[in-house]
Amino acid sequence: MLIAKNITKKFVGVTALNNVNLELYPGKVNAIVGENGAGKSTLMKILSGVHTQYSGDIIFGE
Ligand SMILES: Nc1ncnc2c1ncn2[C@@H]1O[C@H](COP(=O)(O)OP(=O)(O)OP(=O)(O)O)[C@@H](O)[C@H]1O
Ligand SMILES: [Mg+2]
Repeated sequence: MLIAKNITKKFVGVTALNNVNLELYPGKVNAIVGENGAGKSTLMKILSGVHTQYSGDIIFGE
């Protein structure tokens, strides 16, 4: 139900996400795990529309 391809997000001075790929399927539970600063919140903010400046593709709802 969601495919994220090559998501890259750069803030000034830091690359928060570098070519992240993710596929979500109905009925499957996913956990996002990583150390502090790994980019978990940034990825969720991109998928939820908080951050609109990023590169990569998001295909939703097919
Ligand atoms: N609004 C912002 N402006 C500048 N840099 C940011 C911003 N938000 C996040 N960053 C930087 O992007 C990187 C990823 O941060 P993020 O908050 O996504 O990590 P996280 O995995 O959620 O960390 P935590 O486990 O501490 O919540 C970090 O280097 C962080 O300092
Ligand atoms: Mg976080």
